[in-house]
Amino acid sequence: MVSQILKGKTVRMAGKAIRNPSRAVLRLVLKARLRRAKIEDERGRLLDLLSRRFGVDAAALLAEYHQSEFHRWFQQRRVELDQFEGPYRFGTTGEFGCEAMYLLVRAARPRVVVDTGVLYGGSSAHILAALAQNGAGELHSIDIGRDDREPPHDFFVPSELRPRWDLIIGDSRRELPALLRRCGTVDLFHHDSLHTWDHMTWEYETAFPYLSPDGLLSSDDIQNPPSIPGIFRQNAFPAFCQRRHFSFGSFHNLGVAFRGTDGVAPSRGPESRTSGAAHDPPDWARSRNWGRSPTESAAQEPF
Ligand SMILES: C[S@@+](CC[C@H](N)C(=O)[O-])C[C@H]1O[C@@H](n2cnc3c(N)ncnc32)[C@H](O)[C@@H]1O
Repeated sequence: MVSQILKGKTVRMAGKAIRNPSRAVLRLVLKARLRRAKIEDERGRLLDLLSRRFGVDAAALLAEYHQSEFHRWFQQRRVELDQFEGPYRFGTTGEFGCEAMYLLVRAARPRVVVDTGVLYGGSSAHILAALAQNGAGELHSIDIGRDDREPPHDFFVPSELRPRWDLIIGDSRRELPALLRRCGTVDLFHHDSLHTWDHMTWEYETAFPYLSPDGLLSSDDIQNPPSIPGIFRQNAFPAFCQRRHFSFGSFHNLGVAFRGTDGVAPSRGPESRTSGAAHDPPDWARSRNWGRSPTESAAQEPF
């Protein structure tokens, strides 16, 4: 059964590679980048950051997540997606990215969260599960929509988590400004929609004025190369953080940024060096990614 599913998946991926060879090359580049980042190391740095920054026992939160009924249900749902009969897109956030979003929300306890790019609800479900465990908070999500034959946007969202969820279908270019105005203040903004330089930058800049003073910005896909010529170009996420003086760290393919420099390291990319920033980063910031320039992300996978 499992070998049949894997075989089906491999055939679909091979078909995509033949139809779009440059995308296949970009995927290989991403895989090579992420392979260098050992998940155990990335997780360790994230736990360290969350414990220091928020005064929580992040390792205990991780154990809570892995022992939860939600985690068990979600794993089962991943298997069911692989068996889905109709067309579906690859692009659901990976295990570490989902886990990281749960931990971030449990540790930071945001009240108002906005995310863009739902697909089948992978990362949104993790934000919602953490809000439910916190006992407070709401999530507003935007996605441009799907083909009717695909799984629904709430495929990964258990019914008991839906009351905290406001799902808006539409282009974030149109929906995000109005949503932010309705929210007034946002404690966490998470980007996972269209990963082009322009769109990522536009979403960060649009959300920025609405972030609360200790608000957080997170972004998936900060290591994806956008195009073959753009492989060595800086990613929109560190570029934004440096321009707006956000302290940031990257954990596997996830970027996490904080307003100001209170208790975290300043950005150490080329721009902060020329501006003379001279603080030493704490241990969690001393990653292989710190000061490097992850490149911007590839566009969404078609069926
Ligand atoms: C990488 S997937 C999101 C994965 C999801 N966060 C998860 O954890 O499974 C990107 C999603 O962004 C959506 N998207 C692309 N462009 C968009 C736009 N301009 N506005 C809103 N959503 C968009 C796509 O429909 C797709 O569902």
